[in-house]
Amino acid sequence: MIPLSTPDLSGNEASYLQRCIEDGFVSTAGAFVPRFEEMVALATGARQAVAIASGTSALHVALVALGVKPGDLVVLPSYTFIASANAISHAGATPWLFDIAADSWTLDPKLLAERLESETKRVGTEIVHRASGRRVAAIMPVYALGLPADMDPLVALARQYGLPVLADAAAAIGAAYMGRPIGRLGADLSMLSFNGNKTVTSGGGGAIIGDNPELTGLVKHLASTARTGDDYTHDRVGYNYRMTNIEAAVGCAQMERFEQLVSAKKRIRALYDSELSALPGVGLFPAPAWAESACWFSGITLAPPAPSPDQLRRLLRESGIEGRPFWKPMHLQDPYRDAPRTDMPVADDIWKRVLTLPCSAHLTPSDQAKVIGVLKEALS
Ligand SMILES: Cc1ncc(COP(=O)(O)O)c(C=O)c1O
Repeated sequence: MIPLSTPDLSGNEASYLQRCIEDGFVSTAGAFVPRFEEMVALATGARQAVAIASGTSALHVALVALGVKPGDLVVLPSYTFIASANAISHAGATPWLFDIAADSWTLDPKLLAERLESETKRVGTEIVHRASGRRVAAIMPVYALGLPADMDPLVALARQYGLPVLADAAAAIGAAYMGRPIGRLGADLSMLSFNGNKTVTSGGGGAIIGDNPELTGLVKHLASTARTGDDYTHDRVGYNYRMTNIEAAVGCAQMERFEQLVSAKKRIRALYDSELSALPGVGLFPAPAWAESACWFSGITLAPPAPSPDQLRRLLRESGIEGRPFWKPMHLQDPYRDAPRTDMPVADDIWKRVLTLPCSAHLTPSDQAKVIGVLKEALS
């Protein structure tokens, strides 16, 4: 089987893990954690990075650090992985779900501007959603498939309304927007995931990056049980969300090859794009001029006369090739059906037409040629 995406662990992963065992640093203390944080900050252009146990817990703790409270609303594009919405729920808040822009599959700044204007009112220093009476507490753009959202207008809107921005950049390490890396896009905090299916993995894990030491310090404090000293004093309800040295060991080995891994992902996407774009009914993943995607996943969209993603998936499987659907939007998920939301013409259309294709960074040219050959035969 040619799998969708598996990690490339051919660097120093095994020897760094061995070192953790030999040194006895298998938990949250140990040299790999701060080293991993430095490497992540450097690669993203952020001043600080805080290593966290997972992307989901990183989002949760960042929302709390930004002051999101039970009962609040947090702006979120409906087209995302459910972890983004769940983190909002873990903070006691509710997502305010927005449709995406057709050219990027990310939060649409025009739609957001329109709805903040027509559906909220200012009460003192707060922005209140008129229909629900809830405070709007933050904006969470999602960098879908590793492509940054159109951040300049989104950040300008956030400033205008006094709202903090937490970017869900889960799979966007290596991406750029207007030539800037993801740590320099104006978000107050951004989250990265290092789960096993990401371009750079630590097994499981995440990170929060940012430029404001008070905020990133608060994230670190909250994620470490809000402990104030070594006498078991804690000043808030904190979380046990720290990354372990074992995870960071794998993460460090991966970060040493981060540029190589990201460029392999980009090369794989570019070849699919050039080989498949002319086939009838085939569309490509978005590539707006203002951003450079990290190309976390590769794939295509399908419309008649092409077969459906499901039919094509079955055909691929018969040839030993894995293809998969992608995110089902949040407004169609049971826990979020009643969340306040916009109409969803773009998200409703896109999600049913996406098929992801094998794109491991170590996918061989001959395996990719096989995938392309099978697709060409099925689609032409
Ligand atoms: C957009 C998005 N947000 C959040 C997450 C959650 O990250 P984790 O699996 O590390 O908790 C993911 C993971 O795939 C993701 O794709």
